[in-house]
Amino acid sequence: MNTLKKMIFLLLVGMIFVTNLQSQLTSNRATPSILNKYDAQIDEIISNMTLEEKLGMFYGIRMFSSAGVPRLGIADFEFADGPFGIREELEANSWSPAGLGNDLATFFPTGSALAATWNPDIAYKYGVAIGAEGRLRGKDMLLGPAINIQRLPVGGRTYEYFSEDPFLSARLSVGYTKGVQSVGLAVCLKHFALNNQENNRGRVDVKVSQRAMREIYLPPFESAVKEADAWGVMAAYNKVNGFWCSENEILQEKILRDEWGFRGLIVSDWGGTHSTVNAIKNGLDIEMPNGMFLGKALVDSVKSGAVSIDVINKRVKDILRVRLHVKPVPASEANKTLTSQVSQQRTAYEVATKSIVLLKNENSLLPLDLKKYKSIAIIGDNAQQKNATGGVGAGVKTLYEITPYQGLRDRLGNTLKVTYARGYKSFSFFGNGPFQFGQPLPSPYVPADTALLNEAVRVAQAADLVLFVGGTNREVETEGSDRTSIQLPSGQDEVIKAIAAVNPNIVTVIVSGGPVDLNTINQYSSSIVMSWFNGSEGGHALADILLGKLAPVGHLPFTMPVKLEDSPAFALGNYPQAGGGFGPDVFVNLVDGNQSAIAVEDRNIAKYSEELLVGYRWFDTKKIKPLFPFGHGLTYTDFEYANLKATQEKYSLNETLKVSVDVKNTGKYEADELVQLYVHRVKSKIFYPEKELKAFAHVPLKAGETTTVTLDVPVFSLRYWDEKKNEWVLEKGKIEILVGASSGDIRQTTGIEIVK
Ligand code: BGC
Repeated sequence: MNTLKKMIFLLLVGMIFVTNLQSQLTSNRATPSILNKYDAQIDEIISNMTLEEKLGMFYGIRMFSSAGVPRLGIADFEFADGPFGIREELEANSWSPAGLGNDLATFFPTGSALAATWNPDIAYKYGVAIGAEGRLRGKDMLLGPAINIQRLPVGGRTYEYFSEDPFLSARLSVGYTKGVQSVGLAVCLKHFALNNQENNRGRVDVKVSQRAMREIYLPPFESAVKEADAWGVMAAYNKVNGFWCSENEILQEKILRDEWGFRGLIVSDWGGTHSTVNAIKNGLDIEMPNGMFLGKALVDSVKSGAVSIDVINKRVKDILRVRLHVKPVPASEANKTLTSQVSQQRTAYEVATKSIVLLKNENSLLPLDLKKYKSIAIIGDNAQQKNATGGVGAGVKTLYEITPYQGLRDRLGNTLKVTYARGYKSFSFFGNGPFQFGQPLPSPYVPADTALLNEAVRVAQAADLVLFVGGTNREVETEGSDRTSIQLPSGQDEVIKAIAAVNPNIVTVIVSGGPVDLNTINQYSSSIVMSWFNGSEGGHALADILLGKLAPVGHLPFTMPVKLEDSPAFALGNYPQAGGGFGPDVFVNLVDGNQSAIAVEDRNIAKYSEELLVGYRWFDTKKIKPLFPFGHGLTYTDFEYANLKATQEKYSLNETLKVSVDVKNTGKYEADELVQLYVHRVKSKIFYPEKELKAFAHVPLKAGETTTVTLDVPVFSLRYWDEKKNEWVLEKGKIEILVGASSGDIRQTTGIEIVK
């Protein structure tokens, strides 16, 4: 090659490199992290630190604190659970309550309830409110939001997580993160990554394809890092493709830090660290709640040369970036005011009102027309059940919690006669006395209690209308173990059947965080409402919806299957894991901490062979009809859709696909419609699920009003993860745009073409 040719060649190579970089940048974070501004100052601080001071920062010195450097005025770092209220203060080195009086916090609706609002602005407000309580308590980092994908209907933490859909989860994660951090508290996105089951969570190795990981499981984390500049991430308990999350170089260093530009700190889940050298080298900054691996063992590893001082400085820098940005609350100010304040309680109420989902209203029993009834029977233990605490894991010592019963009593006053029957006994694991290892595990799925059932029938018979309040509770849905069934516990199906025989006017309210089997309820109840674990103000919100003060606007963030076996991981035999089934691990832990006693190798592999077909992606692709589809939610009026159009026929990578549709409120009630946009690929070479959510918008409409709604889809969000190239790729070709009221209720379609 002569010199001129060589120069032209080099110039071309350079240009190609620049173009590639640019196209990556357009899809990468828009603005660099605010935490970068401390780098120079931190270098200076680090140069003044002793090795001991540095090594003292990497582990928990109390249950929820890690050490600062007092000599340099660097405060200890204070963590707080999350994610649906600030957890009470605990004793320094145990899980026992500290017994303070001021730490009574607001119980906010749990994750799936927040997700049912489908509203990132509400998620932002939620973040601001919980963040404000965190600061009153002197905290630096909230251990939340919890944003793993709801892969299993029975997942123990489905109630804490947002959705089975990555796009919806991502929008809410961004809102929540921005809200919390706007008041100066850091978030901690958890659990990174693929902590989609609770059984065996401390040992399970998730075998997932790169494409499913990128397209389904990582987007909520990716968006919260790139769009909301999340300052903290928690490494999950499990392994991903052979490596513990807390020492997973691919997840922590390559994807989170190098690709997404995360500049904050990574903390282990409590007790989720497994090594010293691998953990610190591969990205973990803080081991919680103690220094089993990053304490003395790390000192020795540095001395022996197994860990270099460069690695140590890098990790100190990660921690200090967050420490310098999040201003410590002086000890003299923390916990001086009551945590739960009126403005936060108002937010809890607003979220709850917007989360309630009207699943069915066949005979229009709702909103309740009080003129029609002289008496209402409220039946079901869940009407009186509180859900701020319960089961294993973080709960909220709340100032108050309005139950459905209390909410209705408050709102109804003396307008009509209200009677109550318990109907069934809510399951309580710990209510059965201390558990002895070896004793069979109690099951929530027991026959109805005859005496309670008979009383319920008597009370139902004497009333004009029955409000049956069923569902699960926080002992049935709990961290540390998955449910064994989606059946309603405590014989509730039998109870409603018996009630229906004497009074067919039944409105059912379901209090649960995850999907439940509603086949029997559906048969005997013409109106069904989903009311979640809905926080301190949940009962008032419910009453206001039932009584028609507000119209329901919530939509399911997950599929409600006809039966558990229809859902993907079950249908493919990927869950429960072979040889293990539903393990009682957590109970073993509680008794003697002996985990190895029940370790079975097979149980430790979780195959994700359903790939992209999680939730409705599976049901739609396999043509399995759910009981209620993802995105479903009725209200007290109807809507008509017309004139769906895209602004262009053809779109390329850097453009934004814009569609508009006219929506008309054809009923008599003012309400919001949630317009959902899904895409369906026409004759693609690459496999895609039948349809995928890409945009949604809330449209408030007065009775009779019509409005034109515009929905935007950035074309780069239509890319797929190419496993060979290891990057996002946009496939050319035709795409059908489906717009409607749920994944199962598409009202209008139009076509566009992707060109490069
Ligand atoms: C949970 C985390 C939680 C931590 C501290 C762990 O068991 O998985 O979500 O933040 O405990 O309570």
